Amino acid sequence: MTEAIVTVPLTEWSGAVSEPGWVEAVEAGRVLFFPGLAFRMEPAETALLSPALLAQDARNISLDARGALKGVAGDEAARARVSGMMGRFAGQARALIHGLFPAYDAHLRPAPTSLRPTDVSTRKQSVRADDRRLHVDAFPSRPNRGERILRVFSNINPQGQPRIWRVGEPFEDVAKRYLPQATAYSPWQAKLLRSLHVTKSLRSEYDHLMLQMHDRMKADEGYQRESPQQTVAFPSGSTWICFSDHTVHAAMSGQHMLEQTFHLPVERQYAPAASPLAILTRLAGHPLI
Ligand code: SIN
Ligand code: FE
Repeated sequence: MTEAIVTVPLTEWSGAVSEPGWVEAVEAGRVLFFPGLAFRMEPAETALLSPALLAQDARNISLDARGALKGVAGDEAARARVSGMMGRFAGQARALIHGLFPAYDAHLRPAPTSLRPTDVSTRKQSVRADDRRLHVDAFPSRPNRGERILRVFSNINPQGQPRIWRVGEPFEDVAKRYLPQATAYSPWQAKLLRSLHVTKSLRSEYDHLMLQMHDRMKADEGYQRESPQQTVAFPSGSTWICFSDHTVHAAMSGQHMLEQTFHLPVERQYAPAASPLAILTRLAGHPLI
């Protein structure tokens, strides 16, 4: 299979200039990996990194664009420090995307910034929620009608532990594998789910197919074991980017990561024909949104 990872020799968050091939690679579902791009932390920030920082029942800590911090167990001083660190990461992630993909910038909608202090290898969860299984990101309650999910990840593990991912086959291959098995889309059921507030908006046929792929690949033990895949170690002090609705990925181990998601309208990417929406529409043979 083609190399799923493209290594990029950047060391600064701001002022990046994209080289030919990087945009095409990320829009084709490959991971851009920045081994020399570290999120720099103050010793007092590093000292806070512990699962004990998580409020009870919180999976992650989040900071939204208006400065609301959720999921932290610490006192006021700890909260201020975490919020400062996460806000700095949000700004640097935005600067990186601005430099690399300037045409996206005006159209990006940032999601809350996320700090993930738990060890992903030991988390207990259902098959459907288990991100150690290869999947593409698709969320049952949040239909997006083809809107893209662009993510910036930084491994900030203070003990030098890498974050280990598996990266799988091209999106079109996995779509061809599971579309024939997908249950038919029911507009009636989509309306019901919305009226019961199971979904935040109407689940389109695109959202239905993405969820079918997500669930079916996670539940398929043979696929998990035998499908084309490579294991990648993202060292502590490195950063990587991918469209996680396109890249087949699984997080196997690692602890302490910062993550920033940006949503991007599909028509604002450089090559909309490379998107999951375009690929699924072509395979289905009719409009999906
Ligand atoms: C995921 O998006 O599946 C998880 C990424 C990670 O925790 O490294
Ligand atoms: Fe994921």
